Amino acid sequence: MKTPTGTHTGRVALVTGAGQGIGQAIALALADRNAQVIATDLQPPHETVRRIGPAAYALQLDVTKEEDWRSVFLKSREIGDVDIVVNNAGYFPNRSIDELDLQTWRKTMATNLDSHFLSVKYFLPAMRKKKWGRFVGISSNMVGLAIPGMSHYIATKMGIIGFMRGLANDVANDGITANSVLPGLTNTLAIAPQSDEQKQDTWSQQAIKRLGEPGDVTGAVLFLTTDDAAFITGQAIVVDGGQYRIG
Ligand SMILES: NC(=O)c1ccc[n+]([C@@H]2O[C@H](COP(=O)([O-])OP(=O)(O)OC[C@H]3O[C@@H](n4cnc5c(N)ncnc54)[C@H](O)[C@@H]3O)[C@@H](O)[C@H]2O)c1
Repeated sequence: MKTPTGTHTGRVALVTGAGQGIGQAIALALADRNAQVIATDLQPPHETVRRIGPAAYALQLDVTKEEDWRSVFLKSREIGDVDIVVNNAGYFPNRSIDELDLQTWRKTMATNLDSHFLSVKYFLPAMRKKKWGRFVGISSNMVGLAIPGMSHYIATKMGIIGFMRGLANDVANDGITANSVLPGLTNTLAIAPQSDEQKQDTWSQQAIKRLGEPGDVTGAVLFLTTDDAAFITGQAIVVDGGQYRIG
């Protein structure tokens, strides 16, 4: 059955790290539901916007830099108040705890966590005025897996879940929700260095025995950013074909 379109008509959605991979898939999916999409990345993601068409805008946004958030906020006002923020950009180098240096730790924190705080700082006030808003943080199912060399990354991806939970409490009275989505291993350029055997080692642990695609992650994001999900907040939704099971 074809999914209904138009669920996001009238909404302006900002997606970070939208130049490729999961972020690009989310931007395309939101546009497909009639959202106006502000696609952002380290370089303006022109290819993503070309694929969407005139309802999208490509802006440069390094999520670690407050001046970039301020600049995107000011530019976004020419488009309309941002209703939906999807913080997707991520940094995930593998470093064993013995190799991990403070610079890598701080870059991981800045990319994967500061970004969420800064997005709230700039885009929450207009959502409060409109009494409607959605924050979605892209976390990872790795928070529940025994994968070595990722302590810094797992700390941030757990941090996203915690921040969304706390944020949910602070914005609940204004029609604003904050939730996390936890993808499993997903077929993007980020995992290209892994061998097919390594990928299969992971997906063979899933109930659904295939590698996830970026398009597999979009459904949860679309749902959480509609009115249908207005009573769902502070939650973490795992989208990994049934690898990580809670309880
Ligand atoms: N691919 C996976 O297996 C997987 C699994 C679970 C979670 N995730 C999460 O999904 C998100 C997207 O992952 P992906 O696989 O699509 O990655 P990707 O590397 O394919 O794409 C990430 C995008 O983020 C951008 N980016 C990186 N640093 C940035 C910064 N400082 N400011 C702005 N943009 C920046 C990159 O330019 C790139 O376009 C990440 O948060 C990642 O942690 C990925």
